[in-house]
Amino acid sequence: MPEAAPLLLQHLNGMYAMQVLAVGDRSGALAALLDGPGDAVAIAARAGLDERNVEQWLRCMHAAGYAIHDAGVFRAAPEATATFDDDFPIDARGILDFVFAIAGEGVRRIPEAMRTGAGVEPRVFAELGAAASRINSRLYAAALVNEWIARDSALVERLEAGAGIADIACGDGDATVRLARAFPRSTVIGIDPSARPRTDAPNLTLIAETAEHLGAQGAFALVTCLDALHHLGDPAAVVRQMADALEGDGVLLIAETSMTGDVDRDLAADPFVLSTHAAGLFYCMQDNLAAGGDGTTTSRGLDWVTTALSEAGLGTVDVFDSDTGFRVFLARR
Ligand SMILES: C[S@@+](CC[C@H](N)C(=O)[O-])C[C@H]1O[C@@H](n2cnc3c(N)ncnc32)[C@H](O)[C@@H]1O
Repeated sequence: MPEAAPLLLQHLNGMYAMQVLAVGDRSGALAALLDGPGDAVAIAARAGLDERNVEQWLRCMHAAGYAIHDAGVFRAAPEATATFDDDFPIDARGILDFVFAIAGEGVRRIPEAMRTGAGVEPRVFAELGAAASRINSRLYAAALVNEWIARDSALVERLEAGAGIADIACGDGDATVRLARAFPRSTVIGIDPSARPRTDAPNLTLIAETAEHLGAQGAFALVTCLDALHHLGDPAAVVRQMADALEGDGVLLIAETSMTGDVDRDLAADPFVLSTHAAGLFYCMQDNLAAGGDGTTTSRGLDWVTTALSEAGLGTVDVFDSDTGFRVFLARR
């Protein structure tokens, strides 16, 4: 981590590192890693844990500096081996017990989720969704309309004249409100199981439903899915539904955290990548698995988005990395 790293982000990394160690200790993943090198399959088998969860946990351990990676094989870093050795002056596992004891339900459910691979039900994430929306809010304020949508001048014209916009998995609707205010002649809906009614834009309706509900809502000039596709159990099916909901010249806009899926490259590009891997382990991936998904996360890179778009018959795709940290996909038929 660079010396000049903002203090808040250093502390966030530290918090996640402790939680990742604590759930690793509780689940048995830490002991399995300390037993010797292995890939996610081998370490999961050694610990009797779900392979996909262990893969995500190992990405976290690598980003936190407790594991070393080489061609898919992870081994404990010397620091980890020394810290959890019986000769260490204090029993570091006692510290992890302490971290686990003061953690909330979202962390305390993870060791069991790492065992079953069945995910964690959405109820546990109610506060996390709102927090994620709040974190994203200023990024969307800076870029959603003026940078991302502005790239497509025909779309801007259409929305300014008045058209339909749908925001899928809209969370608390913060970005959806921005769309409604930016294009007051357009009619905007947001769909999310956790959506609550808002009154701050007259042309906005938030619908408390899952993404599949989009099919009943008609056709749209713009359908967005912001920082959320990886939460859904079957992202490819939802992309197909979003594509089907587009008017002939309509545009699908997807934003996902920009990552390559290569743990070494992603850590070199972003010393705070632990927060993305850990958000995957504690939240996004558990949401996806609970919805019957295969554990898709942005930590694995974003090829699955490109594949889903082309399988949905969306050929013209403008893909770019925004300064906000999101990779944005603008697609149309
Ligand atoms: C990280 S939040 C993103 C929220 C918002 N789009 C943003 O960028 O701030 C992920 C959202 O996905 C929603 N979600 C999870 N499963 C869903 C489903 N099946 N249909 C629609 N939304 C879903 C969650 O309720 C949560 O609000």
